[in-house]
Amino acid sequence: MSTRPIFVVAGVGNASGTGAATARLFSKAGYRVALIARDAKSLQDLASQLSESGGEARPFVIPSYAPQAIRDTFSAIRKQWPKEKGNEIRAALWNAAAVVWKPFLETTDEDVKEGLEVNVAAAFAFSREIIREFKTNGLNELGKRGTLLFTGAPASVRGDVTTSSFAAGKFGERALSQSLSKEFGKDNIHVAHAIVDGYILTDRQRASHDSSWETNHDVRLDPESIAKAYLYLANQDRSAFTWELDLRPAHGSL
Ligand SMILES: NC(=O)c1ccc[n+]([C@@H]2O[C@H](COP(=O)([O-])OP(=O)(O)OC[C@H]3O[C@@H](n4cnc5c(N)ncnc54)[C@H](OP(=O)(O)O)[C@@H]3O)[C@@H](O)[C@H]2O)c1
Repeated sequence: MSTRPIFVVAGVGNASGTGAATARLFSKAGYRVALIARDAKSLQDLASQLSESGGEARPFVIPSYAPQAIRDTFSAIRKQWPKEKGNEIRAALWNAAAVVWKPFLETTDEDVKEGLEVNVAAAFAFSREIIREFKTNGLNELGKRGTLLFTGAPASVRGDVTTSSFAAGKFGERALSQSLSKEFGKDNIHVAHAIVDGYILTDRQRASHDSSWETNHDVRLDPESIAKAYLYLANQDRSAFTWELDLRPAHGSL
């Protein structure tokens, strides 16, 4: 039986961004991967791709990021890889985000509700499941029980002219990560947040930039480079845990 640690990532989109790049890198580093996202086809394709490259990955399609759906997904992960058979979740990434960029007076009740539900309430539900899992782990060779990572944005620390709703949610996610890092550091659980301060080379950003942006490595973030920072965090030992990283391309930020 394989006893490789499990990495859980929520938010894989169409597999062109940070969620998928991190899944690929953690898989290469020896983790089994539980992929959570809403689009069944992208998830299945990514899981097959990881398995074909020698990894072990399973897709867990989620209908929405409602707290109950997150709890149900963890039950499904545990059905796939039961704890009593020695399967341990050792790393996790909360990468999903409901992104609303609108002037304040155009921001609807629905935008605010969705932003707070996905960026805050769902992040709470995901963290609760992960922290409960980590608490059942013994200490590993790094002296920790697990690493919980959050993808932040400039809106995690700064409101702007079109981010009243988005920033409210991202501030909440960052506050959650900081609180968890303090509360559960004492249990040797490592919680870290990354402010990703720039546009990431995803299919969506490709479509909204001209081709010079895509080919200029100085001005955009590669998902693979963010994934490297996440693996570095997961490999930190208990004597020096980073809570927050600030990542930006060489020539600037958002
Ligand atoms: N792209 C950028 O330029 C940029 C810049 C700074 C920070 N970020 C942060 O990076 C993370 C996303 O990573 P990524 O941009 O590289 O793309 P990604 O890995 O492809 O992930 C996109 C994520 O957005 C989720 N999503 C989009 N709309 C949503 C909605 N209405 N409700 C729930 N989930 C929604 C997708 O969920 P499904 O997987 O379920 O489809 C997916 O998790 C977010 O935390 C974002 O704040 C992005």
